[in-house]
Amino acid sequence: MRHFISVFILGWLAACSAPEPASDTQSQQPVVEQVRPIIIAHRGASGDRPEHTIEAYAFAIEQGADFIEPDLVMTKEGVLIARHDRYLSTSTDVANHPEFAARKRKVETPFGSREDWWAEDFTLAEIKTLRALQPFPGRSTEFDGQFKIPTFDEVLELVKSEAEAGRIVGIYPETKSPGHHKSIGLAMAGPLLEALDNMGIAGAEIPVFIQSFEPDILRDLNNRSDWPLVQLLSGDPRAKAAGLEPPLADIASYADGIGPNKLLVWSGPGAPSDLFSEAKSLGLSIHPWTIRDDRVGIGFSSVEEELAALFTLGVDGVFTDFPATAKQVRDL
Ligand code: G3P
Ligand code: CA
Repeated sequence: MRHFISVFILGWLAACSAPEPASDTQSQQPVVEQVRPIIIAHRGASGDRPEHTIEAYAFAIEQGADFIEPDLVMTKEGVLIARHDRYLSTSTDVANHPEFAARKRKVETPFGSREDWWAEDFTLAEIKTLRALQPFPGRSTEFDGQFKIPTFDEVLELVKSEAEAGRIVGIYPETKSPGHHKSIGLAMAGPLLEALDNMGIAGAEIPVFIQSFEPDILRDLNNRSDWPLVQLLSGDPRAKAAGLEPPLADIASYADGIGPNKLLVWSGPGAPSDLFSEAKSLGLSIHPWTIRDDRVGIGFSSVEEELAALFTLGVDGVFTDFPATAKQVRDL
């Protein structure tokens, strides 16, 4: 965590900004002042490509996203791979692989039991035989079955190669179910930090936010690193009851920002919620999710209106499945 970070922003701004005074002796990562909301490509340009594939991330970069967002789970041998869910049936063609039929099993999750194929039961070599599918009803399936499941290292290689080509795009990884992974011997924090280090992400001046719904891993990362951290907030009462959504003052002691469900930033049309106002007063960045062209937020007549309202409200960034639209509205 770092106070007053403001991570990012665009390459041209980095070139003309004065360095921030050292307020944190651990600081090693580049700090640049943010002057406009960031566009975070949620699962890549996932509205137009199967999510969490190199092709989805690359298309987001092509559209001008400031950050790409890989959700991370782990394979059997502890390799970080980009998937939104630990289960594989909705976003891959695993069901079409007879060799894995017997691998399907029922698992109890905090949201009920589910019979499925689980990433942690597969080696990376097996995961690499799968191909990605579009999991959202109503979206194009034209690319289904074509793209592989990338490792986190491969996603980092993408932003690294973009940086080497002079295009700085940030990386915004989310640890999915870190408590569960740790309970089966697959702690995520170490491999995540090692991957960022090994890939020379700080040296390449690639902006990073690390996010999670689970405070424990963020507290751990805060003790072990200086990367900016974001506490995700769903607003689900079950999450609060489980201690996953601490008070904002507590969050501000280990994180630099919040990633709230977009419903949580409003108290009414055009009016900020208490959560939004308190987060601002604590100096926390606010990155709501998820803005979708094909699923416009309640109370808005178009996604453009929704995005414009969020930017007027003063969010510091938005997670969106359609980065081109968000960029167009932000840059008006
Ligand atoms: O990480 C921000 C947002 O993506 C959280 O929701 O479920 O899409 O990962 P989810
Ligand atoms: Ca996410």
